[in-house]
Amino acid sequence: MTEQKNTEQVDTSTDSQETIAQKIKDGVYIRTIKSFVKREGRLTKGQQGALDQYWPTMGLEHKDGLIDFSAVFGNYNPVVAEIGFGMGKSLVEMAKAAPEKNFIGIEVHTPGVGACLMEAGEQGITNLRLYCHDAIEVLADCIPQDSLACMQLFFADPWHKARHHKRRIVQPLFAQNIRKSLKIGGIFHLATDWENYAEHMVEVLNDAPGYSNIASNGDYIERPDSRPLTKFEARGHRLGHGVWDMMYQREK
Ligand SMILES: C[S@@+](CC[C@H](N)C(=O)[O-])C[C@H]1O[C@@H](n2cnc3c(N)ncnc32)[C@H](O)[C@@H]1O
Repeated sequence: MTEQKNTEQVDTSTDSQETIAQKIKDGVYIRTIKSFVKREGRLTKGQQGALDQYWPTMGLEHKDGLIDFSAVFGNYNPVVAEIGFGMGKSLVEMAKAAPEKNFIGIEVHTPGVGACLMEAGEQGITNLRLYCHDAIEVLADCIPQDSLACMQLFFADPWHKARHHKRRIVQPLFAQNIRKSLKIGGIFHLATDWENYAEHMVEVLNDAPGYSNIASNGDYIERPDSRPLTKFEARGHRLGHGVWDMMYQREK
């Protein structure tokens, strides 16, 4: 029997997304390290009500596989995706401020998805769809290659302890999978309030083939107006933390 290889430990940079997903299905690769711990927090009445009311129109299912954006949104507008939107307040704000774009949010925490649907419903948002699933699998199985105008990753879990750094979602393989999901010229926008994670992100992405860092000094940029303050960021400000924004453009 051939030995299974962990995707975090082998160089998969020459594999296509489909090949990696297929190799996981075939048992050639395994994926054991997750970037989250599933908290089965209770849903509030409002969140449950929003899931019941809006999931049928705004929810996307991982099991449905590759997504056709024009069929889902009924137009060919640029698509912005966000991984780990938390409670979704800033994602809804962005979708409201940019009706000429489509937005896809990916979050594993069901109460967050409920909260985001509630906010979107209250605001009458029509250009937003959500996955309640692990973004790594959504990237591998659902998001077409060369399709996104922008991928956003704001305040990803920093996994502070050195022995947990392997759980950080930003890793070389992740960087390549994000790059493949972007159109040429598309943007990967990251922000964090944890300096050591910011340094890790810059290290991984400055080294990742096929990207250019748009920061003039090769590391961080000012927060662009397009990114509203998130809940985590507001908390970080209160605690006196800094915030680091990074933007990488897909070159090839
Ligand atoms: C620290 S919170 C930040 C939330 C939000 N972006 C904000 O700034 O308020 C990180 C979020 O990422 C989500 N997350 C972590 N790994 C994920 C994954 N692989 N797929 C989808 N969501 C993930 C967590 O559930 C959590 O809600």
